[in-house]
Amino acid sequence: MTSGARHLYVHLPFCAHRCGYCDFVTAVGRRSQHSRYVDALLSELELERRLLAPELETVFLGGGTPTFTEPAALERLLESLPPAVEVTVEANPETVTQGLARMLRSHGVTRVSLGVQSFRPHLLDVLERVVQPDTVRRSFYHLRDAGFDNISFDLIYGIPGQTVAALEADLADALELGPEHLSCYELEAKPGTRFTHAHGDELERQSDAMESYFELVVERLRGAGYRWYETANFCRASELDLRSRHNLAYWLGRDYLGLGVGAVSTVAGRRWRNTPRLAGYMEALERETAPERAVEPLSHDVRRRERVMLGLRLDEPLVLGELATVLDERAVSRLELLGLVRSDSDRQTLALTPRGRFLGGGVTADLLA
Ligand SMILES: C[S@@+](CC[C@H](N)C(=O)[O-])C[C@H]1O[C@@H](n2cnc3c(N)ncnc32)[C@H](O)[C@@H]1O
Ligand code: SF4
Repeated sequence: MTSGARHLYVHLPFCAHRCGYCDFVTAVGRRSQHSRYVDALLSELELERRLLAPELETVFLGGGTPTFTEPAALERLLESLPPAVEVTVEANPETVTQGLARMLRSHGVTRVSLGVQSFRPHLLDVLERVVQPDTVRRSFYHLRDAGFDNISFDLIYGIPGQTVAALEADLADALELGPEHLSCYELEAKPGTRFTHAHGDELERQSDAMESYFELVVERLRGAGYRWYETANFCRASELDLRSRHNLAYWLGRDYLGLGVGAVSTVAGRRWRNTPRLAGYMEALERETAPERAVEPLSHDVRRRERVMLGLRLDEPLVLGELATVLDERAVSRLELLGLVRSDSDRQTLALTPRGRFLGGGVTADLLA
């Protein structure tokens, strides 16, 4: 039984241009369609509202570039979404003006996740970002001036041409601004893409250095007083809990409803993904029908495995209960002896040790029967 999903994701696919490394569902430009797309989102919300709990814990507007959406359409969307304790908007720094920062703040947004990626101009060029480091800083100050006290930075490492010194400098620049939260991702370059063709050899060199970059990121951010609460996520250690509540919901296996083109939902044991086709999505909702969806079968076993894989990304021990059925007991004992996992005396909980967390997915895969 469920009393409805308490977490809502809303996908805004529009971007000013397409960055070479990006694999998200995006659409370049299309200003004339933004308002129509917001209508479609609100129509989908009406269709699915019964799946939501009466009170939401989190709303997350992700993209794409939500802050590239026509301001009037974005404002209308924010006014029409249900309120929540945490409302996050992803923003690209070059879109954050003083006016936009104020509009977000006055429309109930509590948290902004800023796509910084790097502060090094040559690395921003490689990523095909249109932004310069000073614009990143300015956007951060606009957000602070508008009253945002919960700002997150996304950083990427393993960028072609990056050196250890450049990564150190990026971390130092980020720390100087002092965001409440940081997400640090290793660059993933999909085989066969334009980006991979352009940077093939250098991507290989970077992938050899990835482990040492990861260790450097964790060491620097922990040294600066951040809690390494999830494999790629850090929050300032404080009396307030500054973890991303929305992303925690995913890692803890909670139900969430996703609205928009390409959005995924998991509610009451069912998972579906909306069509990634913008025109098809909008046309269906204009007829007040659900968009085309791919339904993913989700057996208990698959769900439990997923809960273990996601739960072990966190720094807090995973409470096992029924999840114990998908673990390989012998592997747990072996990895415990190797100092990669720890459990309590009667195996009620399981967690990766810091060394296990550096090895990440490989250790978790070994644990599953
Ligand atoms: C939904 S994406 C994009 C948000 C925003 N449009 C931007 O570009 O900043 C959220 C984050 O995922 C990360 N990301 C996107 N593509 C990635 C890739 N290929 N490898 C690693 N991280 C990636 C970036 O750090 C990005 O800020
Ligand atoms: S701006 Fe963000 S979402 Fe858009 S193409 Fe670039 S990385 Fe992808």
